[in-house]
Amino acid sequence: MVARLTDEQRNAASDLLEFINASPSPWHAVDETGRRLVAGGFRRLDESETWDIAPGGRYFVVRGDSSLVAFVVGQQPLLDRGFRLVGAHTDSPGLRLKPLAAHAADGVFRLGVEIYGGPILATFTDRDLGLAGRVMVRTPDGVRSLLFRSRMAPARLPNLAIHMNREVNESGLRLNKQTELPLLWGIAGADSDPQQAFLSYLADEIKVAAKDILAWDIAAFDSQPGQFWGTDGEFLASRQLDNLASCHAGLIALLNADCSSATCVLGLFDHEEVGSTSGAGADGSFLEDVLERVCQSLDGSAPDRFRRTLARSFLISADMAHAWNPNFPAAYEPAHRVLVNHGPVIKTNANHRYSTRADTAAYFMALCQQCGVPFQHYAHRTDLGCGSTIGPLLAARLGIPSVDVGSPMWAMHSARESSGVVDHALMTRVLTAFYRSEVDPVTR
Ligand code: CO
Repeated sequence: MVARLTDEQRNAASDLLEFINASPSPWHAVDETGRRLVAGGFRRLDESETWDIAPGGRYFVVRGDSSLVAFVVGQQPLLDRGFRLVGAHTDSPGLRLKPLAAHAADGVFRLGVEIYGGPILATFTDRDLGLAGRVMVRTPDGVRSLLFRSRMAPARLPNLAIHMNREVNESGLRLNKQTELPLLWGIAGADSDPQQAFLSYLADEIKVAAKDILAWDIAAFDSQPGQFWGTDGEFLASRQLDNLASCHAGLIALLNADCSSATCVLGLFDHEEVGSTSGAGADGSFLEDVLERVCQSLDGSAPDRFRRTLARSFLISADMAHAWNPNFPAAYEPAHRVLVNHGPVIKTNANHRYSTRADTAAYFMALCQQCGVPFQHYAHRTDLGCGSTIGPLLAARLGIPSVDVGSPMWAMHSARESSGVVDHALMTRVLTAFYRSEVDPVTR
């Protein structure tokens, strides 16, 4: 039995579940983050306008509705202190509707889907799937983007009964990606037009006329709210823990970063699960564009100022880590068994799938020790391909030192993942300490 949870730990985890509940898609995650930032005194900046930035000011920028960079300008000169950066991603793997998704097959409406990133497909079966995303709508003032979230759980991927799939418990559930993944969505009348039916459904949900709906980005999501589980409620089960847990920890840390002497930045990026190469992704220009403009606004445009500032900057890339699962011991590197509720994980890969280096790992370890946070080390099995994240991409793009860290979790990329309550509070604490620390990560 673990020690009883503290109020700090339970409250941090409850707030995380609320954050995830409000964020069934990356567009919702950015909207919810923006709402919390505004409540915390942050002002939204528009990339197409001139920025007037002041020391101590709190600002954020949104690109593509699904990526966000927020920052608190430090009390001391940017050039002296550099940027303190935390990065995470807003997207999660799953199923996305095709543009003309609806079709009727043998009396049943189905929604055609594409696979976004690398979900564990079998976990999407027999779940109460909601639909969420953004819908582009024609208005008298031009095209507007409206958030959409289904009121109920209108879609489903029913399993095949075991009587027709006798080998399922021996061979696992295999789904043909073209023919066996479309979501069931209703009974189709003989003369009903599936596209029109879907448009009418959407129009009804977002309260606009069907004729004004032009396009959409819509994901299926597990509509069951997150839960505490375990003997003392020490674990969490929820969709999208990868990587909304890191987004949330970074957000709370930044909201806590009041009166920091260094300039603190939080970058939350879409499209990580599909490689990050997009205008708003971590491998695009978004973060660099924002940082350069912050630098220009504060320090003028002497050509080397931005590069000198970057040379003093440091990134903590936060994405979830694979926790030891005692049911599958053969899947792990023996000396790198990362335990749930034992603290943040430093992820290392010699082939640079993670950006961690000896010097950046050492900085993070010292930071953890300063704020009383235990830490763990993860390396993937040598005979398994290692995943990656935004750390190496941002480090390459900005040329700054970076460490890849994350909270341990089970069942990464399942429709319903698991993680630890204690770990979330610890990650939030160490990121807060990073923003507040008077010791610069990059020493002269
Ligand atoms: Co991730």
